[in-house]
Amino acid sequence: MKKILIVGSTGQIGSELNIRLRSIYGENNVVCGYYTPPFPPGFFESGPTAEINALNVEQIAQVVKEYNIDTIYNLAAILSATAEKNPKLGWDVGVGSLMNCLDVAREYKCAVFTPSSIGAFGLSTPKDKTPQDTVQRPNTVYGITKVLGELVSDYYAERYGVDTRSVRYPGIISNMTLPGGGTTDYAVEIFYKAVKGEKFICPLKPGTFMDMMYMPDALDAAINIMEADSSRLIHRNSFNVTAMSFDPEMLAASIRNYIPELEMEYEIDPLKQSIADSWPNSLDDSCARSEWGWSPGYDLDKMTQDMIRALKQKL
Ligand code: SER
Repeated sequence: MKKILIVGSTGQIGSELNIRLRSIYGENNVVCGYYTPPFPPGFFESGPTAEINALNVEQIAQVVKEYNIDTIYNLAAILSATAEKNPKLGWDVGVGSLMNCLDVAREYKCAVFTPSSIGAFGLSTPKDKTPQDTVQRPNTVYGITKVLGELVSDYYAERYGVDTRSVRYPGIISNMTLPGGGTTDYAVEIFYKAVKGEKFICPLKPGTFMDMMYMPDALDAAINIMEADSSRLIHRNSFNVTAMSFDPEMLAASIRNYIPELEMEYEIDPLKQSIADSWPNSLDDSCARSEWGWSPGYDLDKMTQDMIRALKQKL
């Protein structure tokens, strides 16, 4: 049975990944590293937890040693728009947490999952059906740290035999924990507004297409890549994965099938718009499909229905 440490277990992905991992591997085999509140109800009772500042390598090593960890999910991150406002912080967290996890993994023989992102692409990348192997010249701090993360993770795999694996996540839509400071966050916020019956002010122009994915698929991606038969992997860091591509108009139309009164107005955020414009419209994820069987379960309509159902319950 795997012994897992999640660094950053209270964020948008971590807060749901920990529940899923504990249901698969047993609650005592997943240690939730936490640093930033808020802590979900029952967080400290549902299995082992440890305070971990991802920038403190000794703290990570200590927990890995104490719990005999063999797999690290490194989820500490500052999302794209926040990182542009505070590049030093974006750099320190993006690079620092990764290097710490890799060094601890090397010493204690752990596998490491670190998400990359559609942010690892830039203006000179082909925008449609963006290939797995292509130009990666991002112009955001977030993107630069993601490209560095991909390269250094492959380096640790080849040079030191650390089992590093990763996916390039698109925008992730979820209903448990809000994302914060991302360019794709609008696609989560619109659902909260729609369910509350409030007008949504969209920060991105109509026609801004980006890849997106519903959280259950994002969790499957993280778990399945770490479970994949390594002899089948031609790539490691990092795989294109996607589930859907839409612009704000398509998303609003999908929600209006169930909440016809949704009102949306545009008030463009120049920073977010320029970041979104530098990212792909849609990814080609055929390598993930063929090398480890990636196959998302949620398209736009199925996700919309489930988001509305879940948020109606929650709000
Ligand atoms: N969701 C992230 C962001 O918008 C991209 O990976 O920053």
